[in-house]
Amino acid sequence: MEIKKVGVVGCGLMGSGIAQVCAQAGYQVVVSEANEELLKKGLGSIDSFLANSVKKGRVTQEDKDALISRIKGTIDFKDFADCNLVIEAVVENIDLKKKIFAQLDEICPDDAILASNTSCLSVIDIANATSRPEKVLGLHFFNPVPLMKLLEIVKSIATSDETIEAGKEFGKAVGKTTIIAPDIPGFIVNRLLMPFMHGALRMLESGYATKEDIDTGVKLGLGHPMGPITLADLIGLDTDLFIANAIYDELKETQYAPPTILKKMVAAGWWGRKTGKGFYDYNKK
Ligand SMILES: NC(=O)c1ccc[n+]([C@@H]2O[C@H](COP(=O)([O-])OP(=O)(O)OC[C@H]3O[C@@H](n4cnc5c(N)ncnc54)[C@H](O)[C@@H]3O)[C@@H](O)[C@H]2O)c1
Repeated sequence: MEIKKVGVVGCGLMGSGIAQVCAQAGYQVVVSEANEELLKKGLGSIDSFLANSVKKGRVTQEDKDALISRIKGTIDFKDFADCNLVIEAVVENIDLKKKIFAQLDEICPDDAILASNTSCLSVIDIANATSRPEKVLGLHFFNPVPLMKLLEIVKSIATSDETIEAGKEFGKAVGKTTIIAPDIPGFIVNRLLMPFMHGALRMLESGYATKEDIDTGVKLGLGHPMGPITLADLIGLDTDLFIANAIYDELKETQYAPPTILKKMVAAGWWGRKTGKGFYDYNKK
């Protein structure tokens, strides 16, 4: 099946980036939000990213205008009725995701592929909310989507080989390198990242080292583009906590249990870059 039109559910941090890279690859895109205000904000973030790219000479004004014209915003799921692929990118909540997949299953064509950008939740649990589990897979993009090269394709026990092939082709079309990940909590990347990030947060909360020294140590000593505490802020501490809890609930391994400092920061509403304050203060920068 040829993918011509892509739907994206949620136009937050990830959904806006996914909509952008799909439009950049030439697909017609429909992106939805929970209400008009959030939709305006999400579409605005795509516009700002591209305006900045034009300023830096990476994209021409004509290309930006053409790309934007391929993205249609909506708050009505019925607009996904003619999509060949729909990628869900709402918050990391299994009940909400299942509800959305059941709705998409009703609305989308029978041969449409339904994907979740979930960071760690069970793809088969989400797929079982539909009548087409063989056409459901994980398409796990990384943040910021326009810049990060990886796309983790998650194969549940029910995902067909045909769906995986379509996922690989789609990944190539949007300029990503794909890897096939198992449907286990955290897949490949977050399964490895979480214990590492938690180690950094526990070192910080124990007072052994400053956040700046931990981040500089990892950047310069391990050659990472950013330290784990900066990365936690970038991902969003609310999302980090969701991921940690989801993996811990399944595995009960202490390395995945969220550190107290992460729970306290989330409770305080300090969710990182997206709220202006996390472990670092972004209002000052
Ligand atoms: N933040 C990251 O670094 C990252 C990386 C990879 C994957 N993910 C995953 O991507 C998903 C989205 O994460 P995010 O960081 O973009 O979160 P976010 O909070 O920035 O965006 C989620 C958006 O979904 C919208 N939404 C909620 N209910 C909706 C509905 N019924 N219909 C349409 N939109 C709705 C919200 O209004 C919000 O704007 C999560 O599953 C997360 O685990 C996140």
